[in-house]
Amino acid sequence: MPDSPQRPQAHPGVTLTWSSEADTAAFAQQLAHKMMANSALAQAFITLHGNLGAGKTTLVRHLLQALGVPGRIKSPTYAVVEAYDLPQLAIWHFDFYRFDDPLEWEDAGFRDIFASPGLKLAEWPEKAVGLAPQADVAIHIEAIDDTQRRVHLRPLSACGTQLLQAWFS
Ligand SMILES: Nc1ncnc2c1ncn2[C@@H]1O[C@H](COP(=O)(O)OP(=O)(O)OP(=O)(O)O)[C@@H](O)[C@H]1O
Ligand SMILES: [Mg+2]
Repeated sequence: MPDSPQRPQAHPGVTLTWSSEADTAAFAQQLAHKMMANSALAQAFITLHGNLGAGKTTLVRHLLQALGVPGRIKSPTYAVVEAYDLPQLAIWHFDFYRFDDPLEWEDAGFRDIFASPGLKLAEWPEKAVGLAPQADVAIHIEAIDDTQRRVHLRPLSACGTQLLQAWFS
């Protein structure tokens, strides 16, 4: 059957190489710039995948700084989530690495967070499968050596497809 004209074209995703942390920071700054220019682009759930030390927190730190979060940006490894309330945008940075009690999901307010508008970024979403909603975009980071990273951005929803089209236009 031919595709209906309304159906968004499947987006193949985007593969990038970052040669150094400066490249990672430059990507984060470009992304932040697009999000600030069009806040609809920041209403998304983005998951970050990759081994320990791949660079997930580093990318998020650069993104949050570029979006205007002041001061030191803590890793949420122990608290599971850190919240940031910018004038134009609410942001939640999750790290589910130590999350192991599904019963806590509701009590910790995570369901409410995912029902709220804003930007949600999650490291180790594999530890919250069945609880967290479907992501809009998955970012996979693979360490090639000390400083080089291969990165794949994959859209997982119609919103994610639009985001990637806008981010890379
Ligand atoms: N191109 C790069 N992009 C990101 N980080 C890099 C890059 N080159 C070197 N690094 C270094 O790699 C390390 C990445 O650590 P980071 O805490 O961000 O990893 P992570 O994926 O969040 O790990 P974890 O699963 O433990 O949370 C940092 O020390 C960072 O300085
Ligand atoms: Mg991390």
